[in-house]
Amino acid sequence: MKIIKRVIKPLSPCFPNKRNAHMFLVTGKYNFILKYLQAIWILIINVCFVSVLLHCSEENVWKLCSDVSIRIPIELDRCFVVFISNPCRTVPLWKQRAGREDDRLVIWDYHVIFLYSVDCKTCLVYDLDSELPFPTFFHKYVTETFRTDQVLKSDFHRFFRVVPAKQFIQHFASDRRHMKRPDGSWIKPPPPYPAICTSTSTHNLDEYINMDSDSGPGDVFNLTDFVQRFYKIEK
Ligand SMILES: *[C@@H]1O[C@H](CO)[C@@H](O)[C@H](O)[C@H]1NC(C)=O
Repeated sequence: MKIIKRVIKPLSPCFPNKRNAHMFLVTGKYNFILKYLQAIWILIINVCFVSVLLHCSEENVWKLCSDVSIRIPIELDRCFVVFISNPCRTVPLWKQRAGREDDRLVIWDYHVIFLYSVDCKTCLVYDLDSELPFPTFFHKYVTETFRTDQVLKSDFHRFFRVVPAKQFIQHFASDRRHMKRPDGSWIKPPPPYPAICTSTSTHNLDEYINMDSDSGPGDVFNLTDFVQRFYKIEK
């Protein structure tokens, strides 16, 4: 994942915010045990994510999915990996730590986030590159990060490839070619574990970044439909 354009002035490094975990307890008719378990699961996912803080977002998210599948497999069906890109590979996202000025706008070639659809009322977004709280409620994340496509030229419209976490772990492969210069040297140090591959593929990252809805894993949504799919109405 690389930055296509940064928008003005340097910023001090600001790490994902792990405070207010208590905010993510589910309120309402749920019984105490369920709430307690959910809080624990959310905390375990947070801890998994922080422990895999590495170098490129698709591999971070892969590691997170793999950790969830080992530690809390029953929650894996509620987890999704989302690739954000478009045919021009120019997607503006706000509130990114790499961004500058107050609104922290960055234009990425693609971006990857992790979604945890906790229950019928709560969905959380895990984005290590965001300066929003970690994790952030879905509605807050989409409002602040994507704003709207309506004021953007179509080259900058955001599309979303949503892949169930289980499918992502089984299928994703990357030989890290995008982390190397043409001469073969690393742009930044590679993660300290072997490249992720499957029995049938050593590299299929582009199938995920491609936003052609007729091919590739999972389902492709535009911004409107993506919000519809995961927005949980507060009851
Ligand atoms: C989003 O996609 C749906 C169909 O998948 C389409 O009906 C709708 O018009 C699209 N919205 C925008 C803003 O392009």
